[in-house]
Amino acid sequence: MNAPSPSHLLADARTPAAASLSIILLSRGGAYTAGMTELNELASRLQTAMDAAGKSVQLVTAAYVDRAQPTLMEALDLCANAQTILILPVMVPDEASLRRWLHKLIMRWRAGQQSAQQPMPHIVFGQPLLQLQGLTELLTRTVDDALRQPDVPEVLGDDPWEHDPKGWSQVPDHQHHVLWCVGPRCAAKGALQMWPALTRAIRETPALKNSVQPLQTGCQFPCNHGPLMIVYPDGVWYGPMNAESIAPVLTRHVQDREVDEALHVHGPRCLQPN
Ligand code: FES
Repeated sequence: MNAPSPSHLLADARTPAAASLSIILLSRGGAYTAGMTELNELASRLQTAMDAAGKSVQLVTAAYVDRAQPTLMEALDLCANAQTILILPVMVPDEASLRRWLHKLIMRWRAGQQSAQQPMPHIVFGQPLLQLQGLTELLTRTVDDALRQPDVPEVLGDDPWEHDPKGWSQVPDHQHHVLWCVGPRCAAKGALQMWPALTRAIRETPALKNSVQPLQTGCQFPCNHGPLMIVYPDGVWYGPMNAESIAPVLTRHVQDREVDEALHVHGPRCLQPN
């Protein structure tokens, strides 16, 4: 899912600038845009506050470990000409295994920058959100204000609170589920950028339309084969996928009931006819 474009990202961050610090607010991605909008707004506020404090910052940007864009690699590209890149983890929890992998990802990004005509930035991680100094005091200061808030507001209009829309009871037409991994490793290999190619293929291919239900998932574990696509109910795992292979592999699977041998990772190689 593409993050809404905040205005502070529109400037070409790769043009040389006097400031030499860029900041990445690093989060986990979610399924909805509201959280991304909030993180972008936080990035804007942080940039404004840093400027007001006389601490010049080249760029403050949001980035996501999984499920949303910009990915950490894309954010590092945006910040590549800073002398220092500060990554502030604003995700909960800050898992040790994920952090270890993020360090590896950064080393790979650095290796890919070796030929660039600019010095390599110094990259540091800030304190994880829940370990921030002063967080307890900050939360304590919000309590009195919070207690002055009104009771949970009544839901008004033609959206009665007693039940949810009838449409939420209906199962859409489908014969297949396509699980598309947007976990950290697949996201780092471009899975999020490929998601529109998957939905377009389903929308524009008669054999797939109304037959295939796509679903984004977290890590499915064989990350080395990513970007990973799993087609159920047949249970065939494919990878590494790219934007060009999605439509032909899926059409062949669903319409012709054939498995692409070159991209087959796991599951049956022969499919029952429709
Ligand atoms: S991140 Fe996709 S299989 Fe692990």
